[in-house]
Amino acid sequence: MDIFKKYDRYVMPTYARQPVAFVRGKGCYLYDGEGNAYLDFVSGLSVNNLGHCHPAVVKAIREQAGELLHTCNLYFTEPGAELARLISENSLGGKVFFANSGAEANECAIKLARKCGRDLAGGGKHRIITLTGGFHGRTMATLTATAQPEKQAPFRPLLPGFSHVPANDIVALAEAMDDSVCAVMLEPVQGEGGVHVLTPEFLQVARELTQKHKALLVFDEVQTGLGRTGRLFAYQYGNVMPDVMTLAKSLGGALPIGAAVAAPAYSDVLTAGMHGSTFGGGPLPCAAGVAVLKELMAPEFMENVRRIGNYMRAELDGLAGSGLVESVRGLGLMLAVDLHRPHAAEIVSRALEQRIILNNTSEKTLRFLPPLIVEERMIDEVVEFLKTTLNV
Ligand SMILES: Cc1ncc(COP(=O)(O)O)c(C=O)c1O
Repeated sequence: MDIFKKYDRYVMPTYARQPVAFVRGKGCYLYDGEGNAYLDFVSGLSVNNLGHCHPAVVKAIREQAGELLHTCNLYFTEPGAELARLISENSLGGKVFFANSGAEANECAIKLARKCGRDLAGGGKHRIITLTGGFHGRTMATLTATAQPEKQAPFRPLLPGFSHVPANDIVALAEAMDDSVCAVMLEPVQGEGGVHVLTPEFLQVARELTQKHKALLVFDEVQTGLGRTGRLFAYQYGNVMPDVMTLAKSLGGALPIGAAVAAPAYSDVLTAGMHGSTFGGGPLPCAAGVAVLKELMAPEFMENVRRIGNYMRAELDGLAGSGLVESVRGLGLMLAVDLHRPHAAEIVSRALEQRIILNNTSEKTLRFLPPLIVEERMIDEVVEFLKTTLNV
């Protein structure tokens, strides 16, 4: 039985997979069983930010795998301590909870916010506001936070205590806020929703309103974090610091890990027995995470992401200028174009035929998440493909 048939028979059909199986990856390329190279502009959905099988990450995993794979959280290990230190000292300065995925990191943030609200004002202060079009995960709490009705509908009833307001709508946010709110949770750039950048004004108002109502401001940086937008964390573009930030995706250099990072004031809200995860913060993904952060913090790495991001943005703007696409959005190397016609899935299939891996978030939107080490010639190849394909 071939791979496709086995998936068909044995794996739940929760994904619309592209008809290709990969066996190897290196840098910005994936390879199929026949040795064909595919230029990857999806990066495992912003997981392979350093490219496939980055030597420093592979080395860290190999070394750690030969020493210690797992202890559980009843004990201490050095990689967990060091990864938490690196994240904290380069972001909010408080403490970190390690989980295994973005959804789990957000579950921790949600529980932390609920606990804070309860400590302050009892059970009445429990509402969490999230934004329309946002995406926070697939567990029941994070699905409830994910204000996309079509994703929620089959699984109702959802959790109580969540409200949604349109992204960038300052008036709606102000109307929704009161002292029953324990948190506002948002992505600085909405990823799965189609790469919508939140305005600095909206973030500023969210900060002021959460302060006024003693609620937490939670930034879900699962997709925007770790260099994707051209800063280590997207919040660093503005003056607004969140109280809690969540990370996952590229944190483990392709091993599963998530993190909820709290500012010092909220670092000890969750105490022993309140939250946990058997695998969370294990030595193997944390050792990989330490290698990832060291690479991201190397001199000029982030400047280069911004430079190459600007290059790609200018090239895509060129497509809009010549009328081939409707509009361009994004920040750093998290970019999207809206097409004139709802044929984005077809463009993704055509790209695959030419061994370019692209992704669409809807029938009109193509999203680009190349590895952060992408080169100009690779961007040129993708833009050339778009020019020829969209011209017909
Ligand atoms: C912003 C954001 N939050 C949370 C998640 C969920 O992460 P995971 O799939 O690791 O649970 C995602 C995944 O795409 C995401 O983009």
